[in-house]
Amino acid sequence: MHGSIFTLLKRYVQTQYDHSTWVQLLEASGLDSGDFDHKTVYPDEHMYALVGKAAEMTGIPAETLQEKFGEYLVPDLMYMYAKLVQPEWRTMEMIENTEKVMHKRVREEHSENAPPVLDVTRVSANELLIEYVSRRRMGALAVGIVRGLAVYFDEADQIQVEPTTREDGQHVQIRVRRRA
Ligand code: HEM
Repeated sequence: MHGSIFTLLKRYVQTQYDHSTWVQLLEASGLDSGDFDHKTVYPDEHMYALVGKAAEMTGIPAETLQEKFGEYLVPDLMYMYAKLVQPEWRTMEMIENTEKVMHKRVREEHSENAPPVLDVTRVSANELLIEYVSRRRMGALAVGIVRGLAVYFDEADQIQVEPTTREDGQHVQIRVRRRA
């Protein structure tokens, strides 16, 4: 997985907990280096180990941690890819365009990058259905990113996010509604 995601996970743990928690987490996960470069792709297994051990250490379920981390990621992801974001986009439009704009660019940047496939259907003016497909089974992260986007666009009180299948499968369905 993309080095930036690891760097952000490191910063998340350091800010939500502290630096020594991060060091303990690295050790528990069997990783010798906690330095990640944004141009390098790291093994997915390192991410699974970090999230799994973080869940064990905090007693917080891995899904909840992934959701929280997803929310936390959004401002940085938006900043990194700001040039691709159209000024009129809000939460719903951002989600609709992620696959063909943001994730497309991510795939072009490095042949090993593999963001999930997001198949998004506009069910009605105020409703979207996201089909998340990834062998990484990180649907909970997707749910968190959607929540984070709603906060980012100052629409958190209007946007309702509801996974309609389990969040830990290869294929997760997420319903997003905006209160008119
Ligand atoms: C600002 C818009 C977005 C940007 C710039 C962005 C960028 C990225 C990047 C760089 C990765 C790492 C890919 C890799 O390591 O191969 C990634 C992964 C991921 N993205 Fe996005 N993303 C965006 C929006 C979204 C949205 C709206 C969702 C969900 C609805 C989403 C769900 C995910 C998930 C769950 C992953 C983890 C990898 C996986 O599950 O396979 N992203 N994204």
